Amino acid sequence: MRSETSHTTEPDSLAPSPWQPGPLPGPEPAVARRQRRRWDRRAAHWQGHVAANPGLSRSLASLLKEIGPGPLGRVVDLGAGSGQLSLALAPRADQVLAVDVSPQMAEELRRRAADAGIETIEVLVQPIESLALPPASVDLVVSHYALHHLRDADKQLVVAAARRWLRPGGRLVVGDLMLGRGASPEDRAVIAAKVRQLLRRGPAGVWRVAKNAARFTFRLQERPVPPETWAEFLRRAGFEAVGTRRVVQEAGLVWGTRS
Ligand SMILES: C[S@@+](CC[C@H](N)C(=O)[O-])C[C@H]1O[C@@H](n2cnc3c(N)ncnc32)[C@H](O)[C@@H]1O
Repeated sequence: MRSETSHTTEPDSLAPSPWQPGPLPGPEPAVARRQRRRWDRRAAHWQGHVAANPGLSRSLASLLKEIGPGPLGRVVDLGAGSGQLSLALAPRADQVLAVDVSPQMAEELRRRAADAGIETIEVLVQPIESLALPPASVDLVVSHYALHHLRDADKQLVVAAARRWLRPGGRLVVGDLMLGRGASPEDRAVIAAKVRQLLRRGPAGVWRVAKNAARFTFRLQERPVPPETWAEFLRRAGFEAVGTRRVVQEAGLVWGTRS
């Protein structure tokens, strides 16, 4: 890895970085703190979960397809986790800044990058909500299955920030859990299919339905919005050539270009 230094949420411990992340704007949001605890606990098992989940693999493959071939320049991966997207992009990037709130996930990413002999990933342990990068310093901002954890107001702030970080012609491409709470026929079809799928698993599935219903209804940890809402966030932030696509069931893509 290019830098073994990880930035923590302690401003004093920030080390110099070619990305020059700005100072943290204030106290860490409670939402981000909860996500850190949750993902620190899950870090050791996340790659196993990914391997056992064909939907996640298809979502990642669609995201990579949307990013397209060719050199990528400077890339920022928001909510990079153990790095499945960062590691896939690094060979074509000048540099990847992998941002995640969970030190344990970051550690997994570092280990996997070292195992793969990849030296162009810099890992930054910081909430996405407080990431500040220089304007027009990035060619591609990506995120996979992370931004749905943010509150809606923070999603919009991050989209607006990403547009500032991007150089003209740069792109934001997001693959994520994209689902409303049942207001549209598309949402209802996805929710019904998911419930049927879980119920086929018997009592364990019933428990998962109840758990997911509570999590989604009260937006405790998952706060997904449908692809159309994402597209609106990007347009409001000034992105052009905005597009969306549903990938599998609840997974979707949104992208836009900074003109
Ligand atoms: C479902 S995992 C996805 C990880 C990775 N992008 C992938 O595709 O495997 C979600 C990741 O988002 C991170 N995350 C959640 N909320 C965050 C926040 N507010 N700031 C930074 N990272 C966050 C978690 O720590 C976790 O690593």
